[in-house]
Amino acid sequence: MSPGAGDDLARAEQFVRERGPSGCSLVRLEETTSTNDEARRAAQKGAPSLSVFVAESQTAGRGRQGRSWASPRGENLLFSVLFRLHAPANNLPLVALAAGLAVRDAVARAAPTASVLVKWPNDVLVSGRKIAGVLAESVSGSSGPAVVVVGIGINVHTRVFPAKLAERATSVWLELGPDAGPPDRAAILVDVLVGLARDVPLVAAHGPGFIHARLAAADALRGREVRTDDGLVGTAEGLDSDGRLLVRERDGELHRLAAGEVHLAG
Ligand code: BTN
Repeated sequence: MSPGAGDDLARAEQFVRERGPSGCSLVRLEETTSTNDEARRAAQKGAPSLSVFVAESQTAGRGRQGRSWASPRGENLLFSVLFRLHAPANNLPLVALAAGLAVRDAVARAAPTASVLVKWPNDVLVSGRKIAGVLAESVSGSSGPAVVVVGIGINVHTRVFPAKLAERATSVWLELGPDAGPPDRAAILVDVLVGLARDVPLVAAHGPGFIHARLAAADALRGREVRTDDGLVGTAEGLDSDGRLLVRERDGELHRLAAGEVHLAG
């Protein structure tokens, strides 16, 4: 086991009982393919909203855009939350936005001196390095509330990343500095769950209005030159009231991006 890894997650059930959102239930696993798979299977068997699956290790962890998500056993937070949401279909992409912000806020509380920002739509960064990511997946099924699985990976204890990630990744412990003790994964987990339970259903039902100011304050892209996979290059000008990213091209044309990914240009 690497330094800092431990049994801190063993307290997760207790913390969820004592201070988690009401109706939340937690299943803790040593290993799974992907916690998103666990939550999807549970959804198909009728599990309620706020069913949470957290694992010490994933054998097929996945990220956005077909990427994989690797994390050493026992070091970080790998979990998925099942939501059953009363929401218009066009609000569902906003779930990932709200989730990214809830993760950002919990990471900021765990590492209070770090400047923790959201790179639209839901990467969480410190000084340009990724500390957490969100993968929201819809589960298709019968009529009724929309079923969405929100998968979250937060780098908590990892202090040495593989060479190809070393320049682009960080963790809560790295941000706390060498003299700090290991951050508590159970405490961070329950903090994220409280934020998700508060924000996700409201944003899904009513749009991003009430988180807009918080998103704007934590925007990693504002004023930066960005590029999309389609070749659009321009300056990010914040989010509109529907949570779309505003990108102004050099010729002045304003684009509103509803989905996808942007990269910092240059
Ligand atoms: C990304 O930034 O690309 C999203 C990463 C999401 C990773 C988490 S880890 C827990 C959950 N299970 C998965 O397979 N993926 C998400």
